[in-house]
Amino acid sequence: MIRSIFFWRCLMISVFISSSRQQSILEGVIKLVMEGEYQASSEPEDAQRLYAEYDFIVVGAGTAGCVIANRLSENPKWKVLLIEAGRPENYVMDLPIVANYLQFTESNWKYKTEPSDKYCMGLDGQQCNWPRGKVIGGSSVLNYMIYTRGNRRDYDNWEKLGNTGWSFADVLPYFKKVENFTIDEYKNSEYHNDKGYLSVSYPPYKSKVADAIIEASQQNGFPYVDYNGATQVGVSRLQVSMRDGVRESSSRAYLHPARNRSNLHVKKFAMVTKILIDPTTKQTYGVEFERFGRFYSIKASKEVILSSGAINSPQLLMLSGIGPKKHLKELGIPVLKHARVGFNLMDHIALGGLTFMIDKPYSLRIERILTTESLGMYLNHHKGPISVPGGCEVLLFTDFEHPNDTDGYPDMELLFQGGSLVSDPLLRKDFGITDQIYEKVYKPIEPADSFMVFPMLMRPKSSGRIMLKSKNYKVKPMIFPNYFADKKDMDTILKGVRLVLNITSQPALQKLGTKIHTLPIPGCEKYTFASDEYFNCMARHLTFTIYHQSGTCKMGPKSDKKAVVDPRLRVYGIKGLRVIDASIMPVIPAAHTNAPTFMIAEKGADMIKEDWGMKA
Ligand SMILES: Cc1cc2nc3c(=O)[nH]c(=O)nc-3n(C[C@H](O)[C@H](O)[C@H](O)COP(=O)(O)OP(=O)(O)OC[C@H]3O[C@@H](n4cnc5c(N)ncnc54)[C@H](O)[C@@H]3O)c2cc1C
Ligand SMILES: *[C@@H]1O[C@H](CO)[C@@H](O)[C@H](O)[C@H]1NC(C)=O
Ligand SMILES: *[C@@H]1O[C@H](CO)[C@@H](O)[C@H](O)[C@H]1NC(C)=O
Ligand SMILES: *[C@@H]1O[C@H](CO)[C@@H](O)[C@H](O)[C@H]1NC(C)=O
Ligand SMILES: *[C@@H]1O[C@H](CO)[C@@H](O)[C@H](O)[C@H]1NC(C)=O
Repeated sequence: MIRSIFFWRCLMISVFISSSRQQSILEGVIKLVMEGEYQASSEPEDAQRLYAEYDFIVVGAGTAGCVIANRLSENPKWKVLLIEAGRPENYVMDLPIVANYLQFTESNWKYKTEPSDKYCMGLDGQQCNWPRGKVIGGSSVLNYMIYTRGNRRDYDNWEKLGNTGWSFADVLPYFKKVENFTIDEYKNSEYHNDKGYLSVSYPPYKSKVADAIIEASQQNGFPYVDYNGATQVGVSRLQVSMRDGVRESSSRAYLHPARNRSNLHVKKFAMVTKILIDPTTKQTYGVEFERFGRFYSIKASKEVILSSGAINSPQLLMLSGIGPKKHLKELGIPVLKHARVGFNLMDHIALGGLTFMIDKPYSLRIERILTTESLGMYLNHHKGPISVPGGCEVLLFTDFEHPNDTDGYPDMELLFQGGSLVSDPLLRKDFGITDQIYEKVYKPIEPADSFMVFPMLMRPKSSGRIMLKSKNYKVKPMIFPNYFADKKDMDTILKGVRLVLNITSQPALQKLGTKIHTLPIPGCEKYTFASDEYFNCMARHLTFTIYHQSGTCKMGPKSDKKAVVDPRLRVYGIKGLRVIDASIMPVIPAAHTNAPTFMIAEKGADMIKEDWGMKA
């Protein structure tokens, strides 16, 4: 047990003092998260003195950045600087169940999309909340730890688009390299490995609702499957990036083991404002960053690697003069290279708030989870309901075009939570559901037992764009996700809802008295409840992002006019600059994006080593 007893006392006291007033649970957790003294003890220290020049500078210590910093600093001759805008990670962030709470802290960039009357209509300001991690570990610290690689056809398609070296056969070794897979049943599978840095496991706890959901899915004809194995279609408990019941962020997995390397410096609370590029030679030579109001320039003799995520990487490229010519000119930014930066913005969305009532006391509810008993259980054994990542428990993949093919290519995922919007007072605030909708639809069922299902679109046809609002690095960019622009996307969501209704009518869930919650969403009352028109309206009101923003610095061959980076992740037209993170995905895979981002980073690090003549 490495958790400090002092910390646990604080958490327990704050939870108990406040259990009658749920708002102060939030305040207690935020306070704990923000207090630096709880910094994870084995995270690399903030470098006190930086060199004037490094071989490599990595911008952003998120999922990808931590991997790259680790792999490049394996070579003791290379000096590596990792720069992160956010703060250190800390113990509170390790508790899987509080995943939803972290979005309310300063460790979240708190982006919002531009208002729309086609999606996110039932959310505050008609805007979708797009949290992103601003902390050592990046979004892998805020995420729900769901670990899915996607389908082999995702990567075969990347290769077909001209991205040599990215077929499934090429990337599988990197997926394996990432993981220390600890699920016994599948351990000897040729798809898994137990030597990697990142621990992948089942959460140690499972609710009775989850058992019934799995059984009902099987009764509906779905096999139980290792969706990270040979085929993807079927149902499974979540495989998660978790070690022994504790969140395994990218930093815990990759940075902590590298903490004693003297050639790796990590700079925290430091926001890169610009990539330094010689305007005539187009050679990258460093970065400028801001820290507590002061500006610094640091040189890179070999390369700068942008791993700032799918919103900040395109923002930084544009601020540095790489982007759509016309757009940059309008903002008064000198253009170094015209490129379609910020386009091809993809995400996974679900129809939110689809709730089922049960008549057994089995669902995950915050007051059942935060008890003396379960805190003690987690404190002493890392087990019990506190180990459930934000209440998510089961997922199911299906391919509506080939419904009987267990080797199908999923266009839909059903993600099941063992609780619902009423199980935790903060969950609705993550999405920003308006008071009007909450009071009318969900408040009346607060005392009841319930669970929730997200029918999630896996292969969206619609894509959006990120644009700068200003050339000031502090001003957040404008985000236009364009959800549902392609009609086919809504059709698939509606099929997903039908599948949910079929599964919930199976005996295993009927045994719990499962019934759909029928109070209509304000704004959708005019449609017959449960008709396609009704669910269409509901999806447009409660449009839930699953936080898989990607694609904004697209990878592609030279012939692809929309490509920003080449298949070795080098920015076209600029020397010494790569992008390695979720923004390079040419097409979003049928996966939660954390595992694919780990893979991209491992592969990207090897390409850098190869290009500098070091054995990968
Ligand atoms: C709430 C939430 C839940 C999610 N749930 C899941 C899930 O369950 N499963 C899953 O697979 N995926 C999930 N995801 C998505 C997944 O976590 C991301 O796709 C993945 O972490 C992206 O990695 P990245 O390296 O591209 O970016 P990030 O991990 O976001 O890293 C970018 C880093 O760069 C830093 N940075 C940005 N700009 C600058 C700058 N100018 N200067 C210095 N530093 C900068 C940021 O602070 C951040 O630390 C979730 C995401 C969120 C936000
Ligand atoms: C993999 O995980 C197991 C179980 O947690 C652990 O014992 C082992 O040391 C890990 N292996 C590596 C290479 O970290
Ligand atoms: C780092 O060094 C300290 C002190 O020598 C040692 O206790 C620790 O195990 C080392 N950590 C790693 C990951 O090598
Ligand atoms: C799938 O299988 C079911 C039951 O075996 C059958 O009724 C149905 O026609 C099949 N569907 C397709 C598209 O093959
Ligand atoms: C749901 O079940 C009905 C009746 O068995 C069937 O016609 C329909 O195809 C099923 N829909 C889905 C999406 O599984």
